[in-house]
Amino acid sequence: MEHLTKIYPSILAADFLNLEEEINKVSKEADGIHLDIMDGIFVPNITFGIPIIESIRKIFDIYLDAHLMIVEPEKYLEIFSKYVNSITVHYETVTHLHRTVSRIKELGCKAGVSLNPHTPVFLLEEILPYLDKVLIMSVNPGFTGQKFIESTYSKVEKLKKMAQEKEVDIDIMVDGGVNINNINLLHKSGVNTFVVGASVFYSNNPSQEIIDLKKMAEKNG
Ligand code: DX5
Ligand code: ZN
Repeated sequence: MEHLTKIYPSILAADFLNLEEEINKVSKEADGIHLDIMDGIFVPNITFGIPIIESIRKIFDIYLDAHLMIVEPEKYLEIFSKYVNSITVHYETVTHLHRTVSRIKELGCKAGVSLNPHTPVFLLEEILPYLDKVLIMSVNPGFTGQKFIESTYSKVEKLKKMAQEKEVDIDIMVDGGVNINNINLLHKSGVNTFVVGASVFYSNNPSQEIIDLKKMAEKNG
């Protein structure tokens, strides 16, 4: 099954003092909002948690895509599930991944697994049929505005091949350094869902940027 191209702006690149205004700038064109939750242990940065997400949910009805860059994510699934539509955990942080993924679904959310740049796709072979999405990190997680890692293309191709062979229907996502110059090749490699931070929020017209990125992703030739 072919998936529609989706763009999830990451509010990590937004102005946190004006979050409502920032989300308003993208909410019409975005297919969801990506929430980067960092604990200062799994990654060398600390961002935001439940109170902020709860506040966003109170105002916006939009699809919320939580990316948990925290150790022991299983401890927080229930509380996150109250506010978000999807929860993605890192492969590197979970011992009993099947249990964690099953729990996310039981809680009524879409379930995703994210891979750090060094973590190979083949490790997902057994869990893939249980997932709704795989998030391939195209930078080392922790910060917005980093440089895209070129080996991501072949990693995406491997994942796409594995999904086709197993006949599983997943969103293939990339996160980190996505911009107008690499989005087309990423789409051709098999990505259907793009997390974009700096390229959207640092632009003069974030909603037009989303339109342009989507158009460029789907461009033929
Ligand atoms: C990085 C985060 C990303 C980040 C993407 O650790 O997971 O979601 O905000 O931002 P850009 O697009 O600026 O690399
Ligand atoms: Zn992210």
